[in-house]
Amino acid sequence: MAYECIHATTRGRVGLITLNRPKQMNALNPKLMQELGEAMYGFDADDGVGAIVITGNDKAFAAGADITVMKNYSYMDAFRSNYITRDWEHIRNVRKPVIAAVAGYALGGGNELAMMCDIVIAAENAKFGQPEINLGVSPGAGGTQRLARFASKAKAMDLCLTARMMDAAEAERAGIVSRVVPLDKLMDEAMAVADKIAGYSLPVVMMIKETVNRAYETTLSEGVHYERRIFHSMFSLDDQKEGMAAFVEKRKPDFKHR
Ligand code: HXC
Repeated sequence: MAYECIHATTRGRVGLITLNRPKQMNALNPKLMQELGEAMYGFDADDGVGAIVITGNDKAFAAGADITVMKNYSYMDAFRSNYITRDWEHIRNVRKPVIAAVAGYALGGGNELAMMCDIVIAAENAKFGQPEINLGVSPGAGGTQRLARFASKAKAMDLCLTARMMDAAEAERAGIVSRVVPLDKLMDEAMAVADKIAGYSLPVVMMIKETVNRAYETTLSEGVHYERRIFHSMFSLDDQKEGMAAFVEKRKPDFKHR
Protein backbone atom coordinates (compact mmCIF):
# COMPACT_ATOMS: atom_id res chain seq x y z
CA MET A 1 0.00 0.00 0.00
CA ALA A 2 1.40 3.42 -0.99
CA TYR A 3 1.20 6.16 1.62
CA GLU A 4 2.23 9.82 1.52
CA CYS A 5 3.56 10.35 5.05
CA ILE A 6 4.62 6.86 6.16
CA HIS A 7 6.14 3.68 4.75
CA ALA A 8 4.58 0.37 5.71
CA THR A 9 6.07 -3.01 4.96
CA THR A 10 6.27 -6.50 6.44
CA ARG A 11 9.43 -8.38 7.36
CA GLY A 12 8.56 -11.95 8.20
CA ARG A 13 5.80 -11.75 10.81
CA VAL A 14 6.61 -8.13 11.74
CA GLY A 15 4.76 -5.11 10.37
CA LEU A 16 7.16 -2.16 10.11
CA ILE A 17 5.87 1.41 9.89
CA THR A 18 8.32 4.26 9.25
CA LEU A 19 7.13 7.82 9.79
CA ASN A 20 8.25 9.70 6.72
CA ARG A 21 8.19 13.48 6.91
CA PRO A 22 11.94 13.93 7.46
CA LYS A 23 12.03 17.60 6.41
CA GLN A 24 9.48 18.42 9.12
CA MET A 25 11.13 16.21 11.77
CA ASN A 26 8.18 13.81 11.29
CA ALA A 27 5.74 16.42 12.61
CA LEU A 28 2.47 14.56 13.00
CA ASN A 29 -0.14 16.06 10.69
CA PRO A 30 -3.67 14.66 10.26
CA LYS A 31 -2.75 12.82 7.05
CA LEU A 32 0.14 11.02 8.76
CA MET A 33 -2.00 10.06 11.73
CA GLN A 34 -4.77 8.81 9.43
CA GLU A 35 -2.28 6.73 7.43
CA LEU A 36 -0.67 5.41 10.62
CA GLY A 37 -4.08 4.26 11.84
CA GLU A 38 -4.89 2.64 8.51
CA ALA A 39 -1.55 0.80 8.36
CA MET A 40 -1.88 -0.42 11.96
CA TYR A 41 -5.43 -1.67 11.39
CA GLY A 42 -4.19 -3.46 8.26
CA PHE A 43 -1.44 -5.24 10.23
CA ASP A 44 -3.82 -5.96 13.10
CA ALA A 45 -6.18 -7.75 10.69
CA ASP A 46 -3.37 -9.65 8.93
CA ASP A 47 -2.93 -13.21 10.27
CA GLY A 48 0.63 -13.16 8.95
CA VAL A 49 1.64 -10.34 11.33
CA GLY A 50 2.37 -10.94 15.02
CA ALA A 51 3.86 -7.60 16.10
CA ILE A 52 4.21 -4.05 14.80
CA VAL A 53 7.20 -1.66 14.94
CA ILE A 54 6.86 2.10 14.54
CA THR A 55 9.99 4.12 13.90
CA GLY A 56 11.16 7.47 12.49
CA ASN A 57 14.65 8.42 11.35
CA ASP A 58 17.97 9.00 13.11
CA LYS A 59 17.11 12.65 13.92
CA ALA A 60 13.48 12.38 14.88
CA PHE A 61 10.96 9.80 15.91
CA ALA A 62 8.50 12.71 15.76
CA ALA A 63 8.87 16.33 16.91
CA GLY A 64 5.22 16.58 17.87
CA ALA A 65 1.92 17.49 16.31
CA ASP A 66 2.34 19.67 13.22
CA ILE A 67 2.34 23.20 14.58
CA THR A 68 1.68 24.74 11.15
CA VAL A 69 -1.61 22.83 10.91
CA MET A 70 -3.00 23.90 14.28
CA LYS A 71 -1.54 27.38 14.74
CA ASN A 72 -4.68 29.18 13.53
CA TYR A 73 -7.24 26.77 14.96
CA SER A 74 -10.09 28.31 16.93
CA TYR A 75 -11.68 26.47 19.82
CA MET A 76 -14.54 25.58 17.47
CA ASP A 77 -12.14 24.20 14.83
CA ALA A 78 -10.56 21.90 17.43
CA PHE A 79 -13.82 20.93 19.11
CA ARG A 80 -15.99 20.41 16.01
CA SER A 81 -13.35 18.38 14.17
CA ASN A 82 -12.61 16.38 17.33
CA TYR A 83 -8.93 17.21 16.89
CA ILE A 84 -6.59 14.46 18.17
CA THR A 85 -9.42 12.13 19.21
CA ARG A 86 -10.49 11.63 15.59
CA ASP A 87 -7.18 10.24 14.35
CA TRP A 88 -4.84 9.65 17.30
CA GLU A 89 -6.89 7.07 19.13
CA HIS A 90 -6.61 4.31 16.50
CA ILE A 91 -3.47 2.95 18.14
CA ARG A 92 -5.45 2.22 21.30
CA ASN A 93 -7.66 -0.17 19.31
CA VAL A 94 -4.73 -2.18 17.98
CA ARG A 95 -4.64 -5.57 19.73
CA LYS A 96 -1.20 -6.78 18.63
CA PRO A 97 1.89 -5.43 20.40
CA VAL A 98 3.28 -2.18 19.04
CA ILE A 99 6.96 -1.38 19.59
CA ALA A 100 8.27 2.16 19.24
CA ALA A 101 11.89 2.34 18.02
CA VAL A 102 12.88 5.87 18.96
CA ALA A 103 15.95 7.78 17.75
CA GLY A 104 16.34 11.54 18.03
CA TYR A 105 13.46 13.74 19.11
CA ALA A 106 10.25 12.36 20.57
CA LEU A 107 8.60 15.60 21.60
CA GLY A 108 5.04 16.62 22.40
CA GLY A 109 2.78 14.40 20.34
CA GLY A 110 5.87 12.37 19.39
CA ASN A 111 6.47 11.43 23.02
CA GLU A 112 2.75 10.86 23.45
CA LEU A 113 2.74 8.53 20.43
CA ALA A 114 5.72 6.61 21.86
CA MET A 115 3.92 6.28 25.21
CA MET A 116 0.85 4.88 23.42
CA CYS A 117 3.04 2.03 22.14
CA ASP A 118 3.50 -1.09 24.25
CA ILE A 119 7.30 -1.23 24.33
CA VAL A 120 9.67 1.69 23.76
CA ILE A 121 13.21 0.95 22.62
CA ALA A 122 15.41 4.03 22.48
CA ALA A 123 18.65 4.84 20.72
CA GLU A 124 21.26 6.57 22.86
CA ASN A 125 20.59 9.86 21.03
CA ALA A 126 16.85 9.85 21.81
CA LYS A 127 15.33 12.88 23.54
CA PHE A 128 11.91 12.84 25.13
CA GLY A 129 9.86 15.83 26.21
CA GLN A 130 6.55 17.65 26.41
CA PRO A 131 7.49 21.17 25.28
CA GLU A 132 3.92 22.32 24.50
CA ILE A 133 4.12 24.96 27.25
CA ASN A 134 6.56 26.82 24.97
CA LEU A 135 3.70 27.13 22.47
CA GLY A 136 1.16 28.38 24.98
CA VAL A 137 -0.68 25.07 25.29
CA SER A 138 -0.61 21.86 27.31
CA PRO A 139 0.01 18.31 26.08
CA GLY A 140 -3.14 17.09 24.33
CA ALA A 141 -2.64 13.46 23.35
CA GLY A 142 -2.39 11.93 26.80
CA GLY A 143 1.03 13.23 27.86
CA THR A 144 0.00 14.54 31.26
CA GLN A 145 -1.83 11.31 32.06
CA ARG A 146 0.56 8.69 30.71
CA LEU A 147 3.68 10.40 32.07
CA ALA A 148 2.09 10.61 35.51
CA ARG A 149 1.08 6.93 35.40
CA PHE A 150 4.08 5.38 33.59
CA ALA A 151 6.81 7.57 35.14
CA SER A 152 5.70 9.65 38.12
CA LYS A 153 3.88 12.80 39.09
CA ALA A 154 7.22 14.53 39.66
CA LYS A 155 8.53 13.69 36.16
CA ALA A 156 5.20 14.63 34.58
CA MET A 157 5.16 17.99 36.29
CA ASP A 158 8.87 18.61 35.59
CA LEU A 159 8.65 17.82 31.86
CA CYS A 160 5.27 19.43 31.18
CA LEU A 161 5.91 22.58 33.22
CA THR A 162 9.51 23.28 32.17
CA ALA A 163 9.60 21.85 28.60
CA ARG A 164 13.00 20.29 29.30
CA MET A 165 14.01 17.15 27.43
CA MET A 166 15.05 13.84 28.99
CA ASP A 167 17.82 11.84 27.38
CA ALA A 168 17.41 8.12 26.74
CA ALA A 169 19.10 7.06 29.99
CA GLU A 170 16.83 9.29 32.09
CA ALA A 171 13.77 8.11 30.16
CA GLU A 172 14.73 4.51 30.88
CA ARG A 173 15.24 5.29 34.58
CA ALA A 174 11.89 7.09 34.60
CA GLY A 175 10.15 4.02 33.23
CA ILE A 176 8.90 5.15 29.82
CA VAL A 177 11.67 3.36 27.90
CA SER A 178 12.30 -0.36 28.24
CA ARG A 179 15.75 -0.64 26.61
CA VAL A 180 18.47 1.77 25.41
CA VAL A 181 20.80 0.70 22.59
CA PRO A 182 23.43 2.36 20.39
CA LEU A 183 21.87 4.20 17.44
CA ASP A 184 23.30 1.80 14.87
CA LYS A 185 21.73 -1.15 16.71
CA LEU A 186 18.26 0.37 17.16
CA MET A 187 16.43 -1.26 14.27
CA ASP A 188 18.15 -4.63 14.72
CA GLU A 189 17.11 -4.64 18.37
CA ALA A 190 13.54 -3.47 17.73
CA MET A 191 13.04 -5.97 14.90
CA ALA A 192 14.54 -8.78 17.01
CA VAL A 193 12.17 -8.01 19.88
CA ALA A 194 9.20 -7.84 17.49
CA ASP A 195 10.29 -11.04 15.77
CA LYS A 196 10.57 -12.84 19.10
CA ILE A 197 7.09 -11.72 20.18
CA ALA A 198 5.66 -12.61 16.75
CA GLY A 199 7.00 -16.16 17.19
CA TYR A 200 4.86 -16.79 20.27
CA SER A 201 1.20 -17.80 20.22
CA LEU A 202 -0.67 -14.80 18.83
CA PRO A 203 -3.78 -15.15 21.02
CA VAL A 204 -1.58 -15.44 24.12
CA VAL A 205 0.41 -12.36 23.06
CA MET A 206 -2.82 -10.41 22.51
CA MET A 207 -4.27 -11.53 25.84
CA ILE A 208 -1.09 -10.54 27.70
CA LYS A 209 -1.19 -7.07 26.08
CA GLU A 210 -4.83 -6.67 27.04
CA THR A 211 -4.18 -7.82 30.61
CA VAL A 212 -1.19 -5.53 31.21
CA ASN A 213 -3.17 -2.58 29.83
CA ARG A 214 -5.94 -3.42 32.28
CA ALA A 215 -3.58 -2.47 35.10
CA TYR A 216 -3.95 1.18 34.10
CA GLU A 217 -7.73 1.11 34.01
CA THR A 218 -8.72 -0.65 37.23
CA THR A 219 -7.95 -1.52 40.87
CA LEU A 220 -5.31 -4.13 41.80
CA SER A 221 -7.84 -6.72 42.96
CA GLU A 222 -10.01 -6.28 39.85
CA GLY A 223 -6.90 -6.42 37.66
CA VAL A 224 -5.66 -9.62 39.29
CA HIS A 225 -9.15 -11.13 38.96
CA TYR A 226 -9.20 -10.20 35.27
CA GLU A 227 -5.75 -11.74 34.79
CA ARG A 228 -6.87 -14.95 36.52
CA ARG A 229 -9.92 -15.32 34.26
CA ILE A 230 -7.81 -14.68 31.14
CA PHE A 231 -5.28 -17.22 32.45
CA HIS A 232 -8.04 -19.82 32.97
CA SER A 233 -9.31 -19.20 29.42
CA MET A 234 -5.89 -20.04 27.98
CA PHE A 235 -6.43 -23.72 28.84
CA SER A 236 -8.82 -23.75 25.86
CA LEU A 237 -5.98 -22.95 23.43
CA ASP A 238 -4.26 -25.51 21.20
CA ASP A 239 -1.11 -23.44 21.75
CA GLN A 240 -1.26 -24.06 25.53
CA LYS A 241 -1.35 -27.83 24.90
CA GLU A 242 1.49 -27.51 22.40
CA GLY A 243 3.62 -25.19 24.60
CA MET A 244 3.42 -27.40 27.67
CA ALA A 245 3.80 -30.66 25.70
CA ALA A 246 6.89 -29.23 23.99
CA PHE A 247 8.43 -28.38 27.38
CA VAL A 248 7.82 -31.88 28.73
CA GLU A 249 9.12 -33.48 25.50
CA LYS A 250 12.18 -31.16 25.52
CA ARG A 251 11.54 -29.72 22.06
CA LYS A 252 10.65 -26.33 20.60
CA PRO A 253 6.92 -25.55 20.50
CA ASP A 254 5.22 -25.21 17.14
CA PHE A 255 2.52 -22.63 17.80
CA LYS A 256 -0.47 -22.49 15.46
CA HIS A 257 -1.84 -19.20 16.81
CA ARG A 258 -5.10 -20.67 18.05
C1 HXC B 1 5.82 21.59 12.42
C2 HXC B 1 8.06 21.29 12.74
C3 HXC B 1 7.83 20.73 14.01
C4 HXC B 1 6.47 20.62 14.45
C5 HXC B 1 9.96 20.74 13.66
N1 HXC B 1 9.39 21.27 12.56
N2 HXC B 1 9.03 20.40 14.56
N3 HXC B 1 7.07 21.71 11.96
N4 HXC B 1 5.52 21.07 13.62
N5 HXC B 1 6.17 20.09 15.64
C6 HXC B 1 10.06 21.78 11.35
C7 HXC B 1 10.78 23.08 11.61
O1 HXC B 1 9.88 24.17 11.56
C8 HXC B 1 11.76 23.11 10.45
O2 HXC B 1 11.06 23.50 9.29
C9 HXC B 1 12.13 21.64 10.32
O3 HXC B 1 11.08 20.90 10.96
C10 HXC B 1 13.44 21.33 11.01
O4 HXC B 1 13.36 21.79 12.35
P1 HXC B 1 14.42 22.78 13.00
O5 HXC B 1 13.72 23.49 14.11
O6 HXC B 1 15.08 23.62 11.95
O7 HXC B 1 15.50 21.75 13.56
P2 HXC B 1 16.40 21.85 14.87
O8 HXC B 1 16.98 23.23 15.02
O9 HXC B 1 17.31 20.68 14.81
O10 HXC B 1 15.38 21.65 16.10
C11 HXC B 1 14.66 20.44 16.23
C12 HXC B 1 13.55 20.61 17.31
C13 HXC B 1 12.68 21.84 16.94
C14 HXC B 1 14.17 20.77 18.67
C15 HXC B 1 12.73 19.31 17.27
O11 HXC B 1 12.24 21.74 15.56
C16 HXC B 1 11.46 21.99 17.79
O12 HXC B 1 11.52 22.48 18.91
N6 HXC B 1 10.29 21.62 17.25
C17 HXC B 1 9.03 21.80 17.89
C18 HXC B 1 8.86 20.79 19.00
C19 HXC B 1 7.54 20.98 19.69
O13 HXC B 1 7.21 22.08 20.20
N7 HXC B 1 6.73 19.94 19.74
C20 HXC B 1 5.40 19.99 20.32
C21 HXC B 1 4.39 20.32 19.25
S1 HXC B 1 2.83 20.59 19.91
P3 HXC B 1 11.73 24.49 8.22
O14 HXC B 1 10.64 24.70 7.21
O15 HXC B 1 12.14 25.72 8.95
O16 HXC B 1 12.91 23.72 7.68
C22 HXC B 1 2.23 19.09 20.17
C23 HXC B 1 0.87 19.15 20.70
C24 HXC B 1 0.49 17.85 21.25
O17 HXC B 1 2.80 18.08 19.90
C25 HXC B 1 -0.94 17.81 21.41
C26 HXC B 1 -1.61 16.75 20.66
C27 HXC B 1 -0.80 15.88 19.89
